[in-house]
Formats: sequence, C-alpha cells, structure tokens
Amino acid sequence: MQTLNFQAVLDEIDAEIRPQLGAGGTVASYIPALARVAPAQFGIALRTVDDREACAGDARTPFSIQSISKLFTLSLAMQRMGDGLWERIGREPSGSPFNSLVQLETEQGKPRNPFINAGAIALADRLLTLFGASAKSDLLALMCTLASEPVAFDDEVAASEAATGYRNHALANFMKSFGKLDHAVEAVLDLYFHQCAIAMSCVQLARAAGYLCRDGAHPCAPGVKLLTERQTRRVNSLMLTCGTYDAAGEFAFRVGLPCKSGVGGGIVAVVPDRLTLAVWSPALDATGNSLLGMKALELFVAKTGLSVF
Ligand code: DON
Repeated sequence: MQTLNFQAVLDEIDAEIRPQLGAGGTVASYIPALARVAPAQFGIALRTVDDREACAGDARTPFSIQSISKLFTLSLAMQRMGDGLWERIGREPSGSPFNSLVQLETEQGKPRNPFINAGAIALADRLLTLFGASAKSDLLALMCTLASEPVAFDDEVAASEAATGYRNHALANFMKSFGKLDHAVEAVLDLYFHQCAIAMSCVQLARAAGYLCRDGAHPCAPGVKLLTERQTRRVNSLMLTCGTYDAAGEFAFRVGLPCKSGVGGGIVAVVPDRLTLAVWSPALDATGNSLLGMKALELFVAKTGLSVF
C-alpha cells in the first residue's frame, strides 16, 4: 500500500473544516431529539485494511447513526437471504428525497432501493422474519462486535422518532396495504426507529464498516466472513448509486466513493481494498446530507488521490 501519513491528512482536514463550523446547513429538526444536537461539531476517522487507525476532531463523540444503520441491516439481510431479498426491494436510485411516498404508490409498495426509508422499513420487516423477537438485540450485538466496543441504542432518540415519525408510519402502512410487509406496522417501525437511534462515534463507525473494504471479512474477528466478495461489491455499488439519496450523483461527481449518510450528520465512505472512513458534522444541506461531512470527504480524496475512479 502506498505510504500515506493518514493522521497528518486527517489533522489537515480538521484544521480546514473547523473554521467553517456554524457557517451553513441546519441540524435535522423533524426528529425533536436531533434538533437539540449542537451543530458546530466535526469529527473524522479511518481504519485501513492493515488495521491502522487515525482520527481527528470530535471523532470519539457518539452521534445518532440514523440512515447509516441501513448499511448494516442490508448486510445482515443479504447474508441470511441471498437473492430472495430482491423480491421485495429494488436496486435503482430514487432521485427523490429519502422519505418520499410518491414512487411507492406507482410501484405497488416495492421500494426503489434499500437505502431510502421505505426500503429500510422493508428490510426491518425481513429481519423480523429472520431473527424474530430478538432482532433488535441481534443487530446491536453485531454492531458491538464490528466496532469491537460496546454500542447502545439512544432510547430518547428512538422515542422521539416514534412519536413524530408520521411519514414513516405512512410509508409502512402504504406497504402493508400492498401486502409488502409480513409483520405488524408497529413492530417493523419499532425495529426501524431503534436501528436509526444507535449511537456511535466516527472511530467506531470507521471500524464497523471495515468489512466493506475487506471483501466482506469481519474487521475485528479474524477468519469471520460477514458477506461474500460478490455481496460486498453489491453493497458498495448500492452505496455509490443510492447511499446519499437524491444527492448520489453529486457525491459521485465530487467524492467518487461509495458513501452512506444519515440525518444525524454522519457519512461512511469506502475505499475498496484500502480503508473505510467516517465523518460527522450535524448541520445538513437541503438533501439531508452533512454539509461539512461532504466537504471533508472531498478534501480527503483530493489530498490522498484515493478514489474508485
Ligand atoms: O426515518 C428517518 O427519517 C430517519 N430515522 C432516518 C433518515 C435518514 O437518516 C436519512 N438520511 N439522510
């Protein structure tokens, strides 16, 4: 591997991003517990395939991973179901906001992809079939082994989202009306709201997503395979085309890495065969992606030349 001083690169990015904190974007306000997060924070962390770690800024502060959780539920469902998964979920970019109801009506309750909210709700339904009542704890246990540290649900965020998740209730009820959910809407949403409310830091996320740059091999448990090489390639492809919603084209243009974002302000990015990277800054742009997180990824690619293109 080309020798790069990753710690120096992340320190430089932190120094360039920090003066911009507070200068743009807004924290997600439709989930009241997220609206209280201080916007002027920034963290960045990475882990290489040869287990080197580097981090800067607020990289050890836990935040709500929100839609980044969809990476891990997709991986679990792919691992257990193989191609059967795609009967209920598509693989095309939506070009619409992550919580849009529009395509679901015309496409008879089959979500466009696993990373929009409807797709993640369909995944939660599959996980209830696969894991039953222990689905929430099984998912959390996976996150702990991937991060190699204890990880927990933020129950306040989960409750806040359950109390105000009108659109997600609408999406789930819509899918149920088309016969596309096997479990009760409340049970499916309880799992979905909890997965979104997992709290993790950039350091933990960069580690946990490590299987995506290792052809599916567990980042912290030698010899354990989470996904096959082919499945891992597919998750990365979906991240590139659908991982940042209707900004996926802009991300591909400006960053050129498979990325998955969340409205907590986190973004996970993968440099296949090299490293995984996690950035966090809570202020979002109009598409629900972290404004400074995206800038930091752009800087990382410019400074290191690491990109899939
Ligand atoms: O369902 C929601 O709206 C949130 N729990 C997750 C959305 C999210 O993170 C989309 N990301 N950009």
